[in-house]
Amino acid sequence: METITITVGKKTFILDKTKAEEAFNSKKVINGRQTMFFNILPLKYQWAYDLYKTMKANHWEPEEIPMQEDCQQWRDTNGNITDIDRWIIKMAIGYFSAAEGIVGDNIIHVVREVVTAPELKLVLGRHAHEENIHADSLVYMISSLGINPHECEAMFEDIPTIAKKAAFVVNNSRALRRKLDLTKLEDKQALAHNMFLFGQCMEGTQFYGLFGMVLSLARQNKFPGIGNMFKYTLRDESNHIDLFCRLLLELVKENPDIWTPAFREELRQLMATAVALEKDFIRDCLPINGLGLSSKEFEQYIDFIADRRLRNCGLEPLTVDPVNPFPWLSEMMDLKKEQNFFEGRVTEYQKSANLETVSDDEL
Ligand SMILES: [Fe+2]
Ligand SMILES: [Fe+2]
Repeated sequence: METITITVGKKTFILDKTKAEEAFNSKKVINGRQTMFFNILPLKYQWAYDLYKTMKANHWEPEEIPMQEDCQQWRDTNGNITDIDRWIIKMAIGYFSAAEGIVGDNIIHVVREVVTAPELKLVLGRHAHEENIHADSLVYMISSLGINPHECEAMFEDIPTIAKKAAFVVNNSRALRRKLDLTKLEDKQALAHNMFLFGQCMEGTQFYGLFGMVLSLARQNKFPGIGNMFKYTLRDESNHIDLFCRLLLELVKENPDIWTPAFREELRQLMATAVALEKDFIRDCLPINGLGLSSKEFEQYIDFIADRRLRNCGLEPLTVDPVNPFPWLSEMMDLKKEQNFFEGRVTEYQKSANLETVSDDEL
């Protein structure tokens, strides 16, 4: 037996080196070593730990973002704020107030439940917590603007394009809870399907129609507090999309039997469905042209985003040479350019260099 000897004072501990190496080697995305211990070290998935640190350094709290101007604008009767502007905010609140929690719930009850490596569980825990922050930011927006909370629930159930987007992900998540037997290929594929559905189709694509619209409003100095919250949410989402993309790729690397041509096409078609649902939803958000932008431009933006998600996961894009109609949107994400972004109130969160490294690639 190869051993490691540690002497502390008068005590000597002899550790089995082979056993330790075996434990490390049996760290896996799924079907790893069954253990009651939660040892993050030694790291097998360094990227997951690094991403956890990045996410933690981006921490923000909704209540630290001023909403006074938003409240004044919400009550504006001088015509500076149009009905379509208010409708977009209502759709954003109606959709996201439930969608954020759906993502967090899926992480806790499906993905984190079956993932076995502790550093992966760690970053997934942070991801779920960020969804709580996002959900709470909606509570803050609703209460600040004085919107009837029942209206949000009603919007989620009564607006068919929102209900369809919700059913698209919730039905999948519910079906997988505590039902996966990951020794079977079909269940491993079901997990991979779920990761792609939530990470790339929902957070990666179906969040982006409204992100674009709310940031368009912010660009016109409309609802600046809500705009700032969405910018911070969007920055978090880009980490979530990255996390689920990497997790999927690691899962496939360790279980190459998942990645059949038929399965890859299944994911592509899943994205095609997500895009179609998002385009219907965009047409409800912008039933007439508002913001100086047409729903067609937002639909084109979704094609562009969806193909980026597919390519990052090693899948064939759906459209030929999609063009980003909103290059300014990437620019708005560059927080470095924002002066007094939080009027200096949360500068303690800006210690990290992470705030300065948001790239155009995140949109
Ligand atoms: Fe979120
Ligand atoms: Fe997210």
